[in-house]
Amino acid sequence: MANESKFYPYARIVTGVAIAAVLLILLSNLQGFFVRPEDDPEWTPPAGTEQVVQEVGQEQQAAKGPGAELYARHCAACHQSNGKGLPKVYPPLAGSELLQGDPVHSIAIVLYGFRGKIRRNGQEYDGVMTPFGNQLSDEEIAQILTYVRNSWGNSADSVTPEMVAQVREMTKGRTQPMTEEDLMQLQPVSQ
Ligand code: HEC
Repeated sequence: MANESKFYPYARIVTGVAIAAVLLILLSNLQGFFVRPEDDPEWTPPAGTEQVVQEVGQEQQAAKGPGAELYARHCAACHQSNGKGLPKVYPPLAGSELLQGDPVHSIAIVLYGFRGKIRRNGQEYDGVMTPFGNQLSDEEIAQILTYVRNSWGNSADSVTPEMVAQVREMTKGRTQPMTEEDLMQLQPVSQ
């Protein structure tokens, strides 16, 4: 009896610890540790997942199109991938009225470059944009402009390679970058 009462407190502690340990194992999903990988049933995606993933991918591709890639490569360094440009250095294409107007202006800018003082959104710009007429085809310029005219909230008709060819033809022989004045003298390109 004397022995029992002597060890009784320890027995209580040991029992308490044992119960706590069992609870801990149950609560913390420790049994997962004892499951071998081959016991797990192989995970299979729910039916149709593959197809949905594919369709979403195609839609995103269609929304971006080849123009998006060309834009990233040739224009985004200055006008930025969000089309916002850099204040006082590179004008924004997002919201640009000139860009969403008759395509003749933006086609001529991409073909020959653009320079001179301009005012956009209350900011003055006096930079020089490089020409792309010699390194991009009519098709590529049409794709880029169709993309920028319909991105970042912009909305305007597609530009066709035929329009680009038409502007090349009407400005043949030109070597200098466009100025805002030059642009205003160009005939609109017919749809
Ligand atoms: C080296 C930097 C640079 C690159 C690359 C560049 N631009 Fe520009 N872009 C400019 C600058 C600078 C201006 C404004 C020129 C000025 O101040 O007169 C401009 C102006 C424009 C404008 C007129 C915007 C407006 O509202 O007046 C359009 C449209 C445009 N760029 C389209 C493009 C496209 C499309 C590409 C790619 C093919 C491109 N730019 C590549 C620097 C660049």
